[in-house]
Amino acid sequence: MKKIVILTGAGMSAESGISTFRGGGGLWDEYPVEQVATPEGYRANPELVLGFYNKRRRQLLDVVPNRGHELVAQLEKDFEVTVVTQNVDNLHERAGSTNVIHLHGELMKVCSSLEPNNMEYVETLSPDNLDVRLGDLAADGSQKRPFIVWFGESVPLMEDAISSLRGVDAFVIIGTSLNVYPAAGLLNYVPAGVPVYLIDPNEVSVSRRDVTVIRKGASEGMQQLIDDYLFLLK
Ligand code: OAD
Repeated sequence: MKKIVILTGAGMSAESGISTFRGGGGLWDEYPVEQVATPEGYRANPELVLGFYNKRRRQLLDVVPNRGHELVAQLEKDFEVTVVTQNVDNLHERAGSTNVIHLHGELMKVCSSLEPNNMEYVETLSPDNLDVRLGDLAADGSQKRPFIVWFGESVPLMEDAISSLRGVDAFVIIGTSLNVYPAAGLLNYVPAGVPVYLIDPNEVSVSRRDVTVIRKGASEGMQQLIDDYLFLLK
């Protein structure tokens, strides 16, 4: 089977009703990044940060995967697929994707405040027990915190993402402004000559010239990618 790696960002989930981060009305307009997505913000006001992610977790219960997520999942019928996502939602998995690397963590998981990357202390929350409160402790006795990679923190799964590119036959980028590193740098590891497709309704600047741009939303764009390009790759 040919191998496809797909890098997704907030635009992938936009049609499911989850806000993107940048641009008019993005999440970072309403909530300052420094307050809710940095270790410093967490230290300054843990309650505010826990509350922010509690709210986003509850929002996740009300949304469903969109056609774009479904089309990505269906690719597994014909290809070996790795989804590398910057999204912390679980919509790829809920649509049926089985091989998802969450570079920026997962909203439905919590971890230790002392050792956020120690998987021994990572727990998955259940839908009927979504909120994390001040005083809820991880197994190492530290405050439970969201299993989210904040700005300034390392991205341990980047290594896995880079490894997934070994022997790749096509690389697809969907719904990311490619502003945040190291995730955006994944494109630089795609071997020369491998076709790269980018699906986004807005202009995104990329470091390579040989990129086929499909200027559409995730659902329509995925359909076009399958009909016009991946069909030939099978
Ligand atoms: P951004 O909000 O920066 O970019 C979203 C992209 O999605 C933009 O290029 C939009 O044009 C595009 N978009 C909007 N609607 C779309 C649709 N219907 N279909 C497809 N694309 C659409 O989000 P990311 O690039 O994902 O990190 O942001 C990267 C990281 O920055 C996030 O993971 C998050 C954030 O700060 C952390 O929280 C650590």
